[in-house]
Amino acid sequence: MSLSLSSNAFSIQPTKYEAFRRRFSSQFISPIQVSSSTHACSVSHVNSPSFFKFSRERLNPIAASATSAAETAPSSFRDKTPKDINVLVVGSTGYIGKFVVRELVKRGFNVIAVARERSGIRGRNSKEETLNELKGANVCFSDVTNLETLEKSVEGLGCDIDVVLSCLASRSGGVKDSWKIDYEATRNSLLAGRKFGAVHFVLLSAICVQKPLLEFQRAKLKFEAELMKEAGEDDKFTYSIVRPTAFFKSLGGQVELVKDGKPYVMFGDGKLCACKPISESDLASFIADCVLSEDKINQVLPIGGPGKALTPLEQGEILFRLLGKEPKFLKVPIEIMDFAIGVLDFLVKIFPGLEDAAEFGKIGRYYAAESMLILDPETGEYCSDKTPSYGKDTLEEFFEKVLREGIAGQELGEQTIF
Ligand SMILES: NC(=O)c1ccc[n+]([C@@H]2O[C@H](COP(=O)([O-])OP(=O)(O)OC[C@H]3O[C@@H](n4cnc5c(N)ncnc54)[C@H](OP(=O)(O)O)[C@@H]3O)[C@@H](O)[C@H]2O)c1
Repeated sequence: MSLSLSSNAFSIQPTKYEAFRRRFSSQFISPIQVSSSTHACSVSHVNSPSFFKFSRERLNPIAASATSAAETAPSSFRDKTPKDINVLVVGSTGYIGKFVVRELVKRGFNVIAVARERSGIRGRNSKEETLNELKGANVCFSDVTNLETLEKSVEGLGCDIDVVLSCLASRSGGVKDSWKIDYEATRNSLLAGRKFGAVHFVLLSAICVQKPLLEFQRAKLKFEAELMKEAGEDDKFTYSIVRPTAFFKSLGGQVELVKDGKPYVMFGDGKLCACKPISESDLASFIADCVLSEDKINQVLPIGGPGKALTPLEQGEILFRLLGKEPKFLKVPIEIMDFAIGVLDFLVKIFPGLEDAAEFGKIGRYYAAESMLILDPETGEYCSDKTPSYGKDTLEEFFEKVLREGIAGQELGEQTIF
């Protein structure tokens, strides 16, 4: 790998090099864990000497003359081999994030995964469990909600960033938390990444932002708009915005209940909404494609899984067929939700503390009635045929797996609404 001290996009400035050398020199002896108390960041990795390999490679060419390095330096990070491309992943410990980290590591990228010291739903994972889950990546424990802390953490890495990839999302979907994570923390990762050289941003968003009625959708859209503005103002900066349809976990909640003899619950006639569900690994693969694919530059990319769109009624039918049982449906009128939301909206005016409860009701209503498919702006209709497909994993295979092995690993977030 060539490294340049000249002004191309891939350079380590001497100050950063010094900071890096001070920080990591002793660790070359035992490449197990790197931590620092001066910055609110520690970088750790398990069973992976790749970070140090990359570190050495970045250090060696310092001795080379700036001219010769500049002559051989790649003009874009896309011209480098994956092992020389530094991808900063935020939201690395989420349902999709951890699969994205795994996929990027598999493809040979230098992955820097930002995580909290306690990660996962309700902080259930310890540092060690997080390290184990993100094997092969360099794990940087930091705080994405605090720009200064995050910048110090990235600075402490002592290397430039090529690409930032965000799988961040509010774990609750609450009003304030959505703005704090889906907008502010994601923006922090853009700012911190840009400060240290990032020229490409891959954002995991959601197809439902096409019809924004919820706070997390508005927060995501605000960030998407800023990302596009950044690319509009700097032609060296690019983005890929991935807007997937429903995840398997969002559709697996009734599998074990139905197995235990309960009816399959759906709203209206079971045809109010449809989606093209996509598995974690297929989506992770699509997202990983966005790091290098030139045809995904500066694009908003709606994406679903293989096959046709499925309504809740069809999903229930698949489940009963797999179980060899006579279908048993419980149809709930959607108006029940409208009534509950109306009551909560009224109460929020008196008790502002109920703001999140009202929002959760709206999220539930949204997912019960709105399809996760491309929305035709002309007709206002959702369109299965226009929703692109990717991957190979089907919902039927997923249901079979859950029936066989249980729902572990597919838990919904803190409010069990998505
Ligand atoms: N569910 C669906 O069907 C669906 C469909 C389409 C799109 N989407 C979108 O896909 C995205 C990702 O979903 P997901 O299910 O993978 O999310 P998730 O499992 O809830 O993961 C969220 C990630 O954000 C991090 N995070 C949340 N709050 C944080 C905080 N205060 N400080 C630091 N980190 C924080 C989490 O870290 P910790 O582990 O430390 O908590 C985790 O890494 C979301 O934007 C969602 O809207 C979902």
